[in-house]
Amino acid sequence: MTSTPNTAARTGSAHEPVTVIGLGLMGQALATAFLAAGHPTTVWNRTPGKADGLVARGAVRAPSVADALTASPLVVVCLSDAAAVRDTLGPYRDRLAGRTLVNLTSGTSDEARDLSAWTAGYVDGAIMAIPEVIGTPEAFLLFSGAPEAFEKHRESLGRLGNATFFGADPGLAALYDVALLGVMWGTLNAFLHGAALLGAAKVDATVFAPFANQWLASVTGFVSAYAEQIDRGAYPAEDATLETHLATMKHLVRESAAAGVDTDWPARVQALAERAIAAGHAGTSYASLIEVFRGRA
Ligand SMILES: NC(=O)c1ccc[n+]([C@@H]2O[C@H](COP(=O)([O-])OP(=O)(O)OC[C@H]3O[C@@H](n4cnc5c(N)ncnc54)[C@H](OP(=O)(O)O)[C@@H]3O)[C@@H](O)[C@H]2O)c1
Repeated sequence: MTSTPNTAARTGSAHEPVTVIGLGLMGQALATAFLAAGHPTTVWNRTPGKADGLVARGAVRAPSVADALTASPLVVVCLSDAAAVRDTLGPYRDRLAGRTLVNLTSGTSDEARDLSAWTAGYVDGAIMAIPEVIGTPEAFLLFSGAPEAFEKHRESLGRLGNATFFGADPGLAALYDVALLGVMWGTLNAFLHGAALLGAAKVDATVFAPFANQWLASVTGFVSAYAEQIDRGAYPAEDATLETHLATMKHLVRESAAAGVDTDWPARVQALAERAIAAGHAGTSYASLIEVFRGRA
C-alpha cells in the first residue's frame, strides 16, 4: 500500500553553500550544523541580532531576504509557521528559480502542497528532533517533494541528522510529522495521567517512569503486530479481545475518580473501545479500533 522510504546516510564530502532563513531555536541549530560540517553558510533572520553568534563562527549575514536567497543553491527556511514563510519569501519567489527551497517549518500537508507551487525545486521537511541533537545521528528528519532537488542536496541535508525521503508528494512529510506528534502526545498524556494516579498514592513520577518505559518497550511490539493486522484488514484476537481491554479500561476510570484524578483521558479511551464494540468488534483485537479512527464505527 505504501512505498518504502528512502533513508540517506549522514556521510559525504560535498560542502556546497547553504542559506538558512530563520534563526530561532531550531534555525540556529540548523545553521550551526551546516557550519560545523564545513558548508559556507549564509543566514538571515527578521531580528538580525540573532545572527551574531553564527557570524562570529564564520556565517555570512545576508543584508536582505533577496540576498539570502541568491547566495546559495540550497535554501533552508525554518520559521514559526507557513504564514511567516509566505510573508517572508513570497515577495521574492522569482529568486527561487533554479534553486532548491527546503522548508523545515512545521505545517500541514495542504500548506506544503500550496508552497510547492512556488518552485520546481521545493522540498518540504519535518524535524523529528530537538535543536540540541541536530547534526547528530539521534536527529531524524523527514522529507518529501521534488525528487531531483532532494537527490541533489541529499548529502548536505544529511548533515542535519538521518534524512528520510518519502517521494514526490510534498505533503507527505508534514503528514508523517503530525501523525508522529500525535503518537508522542498520546503517549505523554497517558504517562502524565498515570503519574497523577500514582502520585495520589504518594509514588513519585521518577519512581513510576522506569516502569512506564519498560512497558512502552512492550507496547512498541504491539504497534508492529497491529500494523500488520491493519494492513491485512483482519484483527484476530491473538493476545486479548477488545472486550477484555474494555473491562480494565473501566478500572482505570474508577481508580481515577476515586483518587480525585481527572477522568477525561481514561473516559475517552473507554468511549473509543465502546464504539468499536458497538460496531461488532467485541471479540477482535485492539487493532480493530482503527475502524473508529477511520470513521467507520
Ligand atoms: N524547537 C524545536 O524543538 C522544534 C522541533 C521540531 C520542529 N520545530 C519547528 O521549527 C520551526 C521553528 O521553531 P523554533 O523552535 O525555531 O521557533 P522560534 O525559536 O520561536 O523561532 C521562530 C523563528 O521564526 C521567525 N518568525 C516568526 N514569525 C515571523 C515573521 N512573520 N516573519 C519573519 N520571521 C518570523 C522568528 O524571527 P524573530 O527571531 O525575528 O522573531 C524566528 O526566527 C517551527 O515550525 C517549529 O514547529 C521546532
